[in-house]
Amino acid sequence: MTTALITGATSGIGAAFARRLAHDGHNLVLVARDEKRLHRQATELHDLHGIEASVLSADLATEEGIAAVEERLGDRKHPVDLLVNNAGFGNKGEYLEVPMADELAMLKVHCEAVLRLTTAAVRGMRERRRGGVVNVASVAAFVPRGTYGASKAWVVQFTQGAARDLAGSGVRLMALCPGFVRTEFHQRAGMGTDNIPGWMWLDADKLVDAAMKDLARGRSLSIPDPRYKALMGAAKLAPRGVLGGLTSRTGRKFGPK
Ligand SMILES: NC(=O)c1ccc[n+]([C@@H]2O[C@H](COP(=O)([O-])OP(=O)(O)OC[C@H]3O[C@@H](n4cnc5c(N)ncnc54)[C@H](OP(=O)(O)O)[C@@H]3O)[C@@H](O)[C@H]2O)c1
Repeated sequence: MTTALITGATSGIGAAFARRLAHDGHNLVLVARDEKRLHRQATELHDLHGIEASVLSADLATEEGIAAVEERLGDRKHPVDLLVNNAGFGNKGEYLEVPMADELAMLKVHCEAVLRLTTAAVRGMRERRRGGVVNVASVAAFVPRGTYGASKAWVVQFTQGAARDLAGSGVRLMALCPGFVRTEFHQRAGMGTDNIPGWMWLDADKLVDAAMKDLARGRSLSIPDPRYKALMGAAKLAPRGVLGGLTSRTGRKFGPK
């Protein structure tokens, strides 16, 4: 039986990965901060699918939190075959409105944790000549959208570069770039979603199904859903200034301006 470790497993996209991977018969290591919620989820998944689900409570915005998950990923006696670096969040406000501590916490969770956890997992995977890493980025990686978009652009570049370096090693790395997904993300950040048209919302379970297909195909970049593939194609052709105007304010403002 194989084991998958998912960060940010308790809600939204991470919870959808946990459901899908448990359904497929993987044992799970569930990572997030809310310990009670983690235990509840582990019990549910165990009872429903008969898999082993263990929990690791860790705050990936802290050194101790990252180190604890690194240690679990480096445990050669209990290898992790699939890592999903999914934990993440949004900060409300434009540049200069967001406190520096919140910007730095975002870089720690979205970039430093992803770098260190990927590396901790991939070392053993390369020795075993098998394994996979899904790093959850965003379509925001391709448009000007503050520190959030910049951090997700880093995730895409890092993941595709590492995938290239590891080609032929038996280890697959893929950056997953969702569009808007109905999760706790926007509510947690206090972001309004009224100006996001209904057709732009994706379902987390369908997103994960598409991502798993792309991983099986050996893609290093996954943009699930034809609507977003088309949008990202158009975005490549649009001038940066136009894109910035269209995308950078959605949900990020403190009030009407
Ligand atoms: N929803 C969207 O529209 C959307 C679009 C594109 C990309 N994404 C990306 O998808 C990923 C998942 O987001 P989501 O939409 O599923 O959000 P969500 O429903 O808010 O879930 C976020 C998960 O991350 C965990 N988490 C947050 N901060 C953490 C920290 N410091 N340390 C450890 N765990 C932490 C949360 O659990 P605890 O609070 O218990 O720690 C929760 O399990 C993020 O990387 C996000 O940037 C989301």
